Amino acid sequence: MAIIYQIRKPFFKLNYMISPKIEKALNQQVLLEAESSQIYLAMASWAEVGGLSGIAEFLFTHSDEERLHMLKLLKFINERGGHGVIPTLPAPPLKYKGIKELFQEVLTHEIHVSAEINKLVDSCLKEKDYTTHNFLQWYVSEQIEEEALARKIMDKLKLIGDDKAGMYIFDRDIASLAGGGTSKGKAAE
Ligand code: FEO
Repeated sequence: MAIIYQIRKPFFKLNYMISPKIEKALNQQVLLEAESSQIYLAMASWAEVGGLSGIAEFLFTHSDEERLHMLKLLKFINERGGHGVIPTLPAPPLKYKGIKELFQEVLTHEIHVSAEINKLVDSCLKEKDYTTHNFLQWYVSEQIEEEALARKIMDKLKLIGDDKAGMYIFDRDIASLAGGGTSKGKAAE
């Protein structure tokens, strides 16, 4: 029995572990997803304090989803024989110039996340890590949805302009979009 174990162990490890390069890149993405969650949480708090309850609800939900994105990555790294690292996060901004500026920041941030996911997918192909490549397809789809949602919100805000009544309706209606543009729940699978 002992001989079989000694033969099998290195074979098992060789096929099961992610490479240090992919592990490092995935942990970098853990940091980015955690940072996203933290930024949206700060935005939600700013909106809530300012009486924008619908926007706050949308952003609190968005923050929760980003945490699930982070968790899904962390668990994958650990399951593949790596070590998911809990990152130190910089403090997010306390205040925002306005609603339009805030959502422009959301869109810019999501475009950045998409670019990082694409780089990660590219690294997997170069490393011939098809398992991680397959795992990341969920994030590729997720980013398409998140960018589309952020663009949709920006289009609405451009239409509203400085109209206060329009902004009131926007704040009332945006809560219904919370979780609508993303694959909420699936991240915890
Ligand atoms: Fe999980 Fe919106 O990046």
